[in-house]
Amino acid sequence: MSRQATIFEQLARVQINVAHPAEQYMMRLHAPDIAAHALPGQFVHLQVAEGARLRRPISIMLSNPEQGTIDVLFKVVGEGTRLLAQKQAGDILAVCGPIGVPFDISDTSRRYACIGGGVGIPPMIFAADRLQQAAGHPMVFAGSEVPFPFALTASRFLLPGIPAAAMMTIQSLESRDIPCRLASGNPELFGTFSGYVADLAALWLEALPTEERDKVTILSCGPHPMLRSVAQLGARFGVQTFVSLEEHMACAIGGCAGCVVETHEADGTHYRRICVDGPVFDATQLNWD
Ligand SMILES: Cc1cc2nc3c(=O)[nH]c(=O)nc-3n(C[C@H](O)[C@H](O)[C@H](O)COP(=O)(O)OP(=O)(O)OC[C@H]3O[C@@H](n4cnc5c(N)ncnc54)[C@H](O)[C@@H]3O)c2cc1C
Ligand code: FES
Repeated sequence: MSRQATIFEQLARVQINVAHPAEQYMMRLHAPDIAAHALPGQFVHLQVAEGARLRRPISIMLSNPEQGTIDVLFKVVGEGTRLLAQKQAGDILAVCGPIGVPFDISDTSRRYACIGGGVGIPPMIFAADRLQQAAGHPMVFAGSEVPFPFALTASRFLLPGIPAAAMMTIQSLESRDIPCRLASGNPELFGTFSGYVADLAALWLEALPTEERDKVTILSCGPHPMLRSVAQLGARFGVQTFVSLEEHMACAIGGCAGCVVETHEADGTHYRRICVDGPVFDATQLNWD
């Protein structure tokens, strides 16, 4: 059931690669064809070094079709991301993208609650950005155990159910009138909700009047235990929930079946490739055991 459109292969020039605490990096790449077609939830497959056999999948955090650029955020976890961290302005990377089925954010009458954890935050930023451009109603909840790789500020938005002490938000979202709140188990991260991001979103959902809650769709990306909690949250409140899976991949273009996930759909059980049939799936179709 692949709905994959054209995937471009580009030699992309690194414009910036900025280091943030805890080995997180924000890289901007000049990749005009990918930037022109990228949608929230899609990713790129980056060659981390010349001649390197395997590429690495990284979500698109923002695309600017006018400038021909895409932004990605990654955390160093192994050899591939370590090589990516060493890239400097002017370096050239082979990049394939945009890949995957994006989030469906076409119904702008709905309230999209974008819940991201760690390196799952970038697709939430992209979804919120596009929704705001389309006069939609995005809302972002972001969780991290290490310092957020964004400039933070105190929010002027009052949100139902959210403790007043959790007032910090991502500055770039605040300046575009996108409400956002942060969660962390790290007591040093001032102004964040102390706990899991799914629990923060639960406080907000709980406080919404039923007719408002019925208009909410949850989009989420992050580590598996977080996605499981978000899927449970959606089930608890009867809110439609879509998750983006960040699992191991080899080819990332549907050819090797190295990224298969079992789904339970109306017509039975299927084995879907996360790279091209996903990475976005309806949370109710996945096994969360
Ligand atoms: C669709 C998709 C989007 C992604 N988006 C981002 C992103 O925006 N930012 C980001 O930092 N990372 C993202 N990832 C994860 C990223 O691809 C991996 O961290 C990266 O491939 C690791 O490569 P490495 O060579 O540095 O580490 P490796 O040496 O390959 O692995 C180091 C450690 O990370 C674990 N690991 C490797 N790949 C994954 C994976 N896909 N998921 C979970 N654990 C993994 C390994 O088991 C090992 O413990 C995404 C993955 C997918 C599939
Ligand atoms: S990684 Fe090869 S089919 Fe998905």
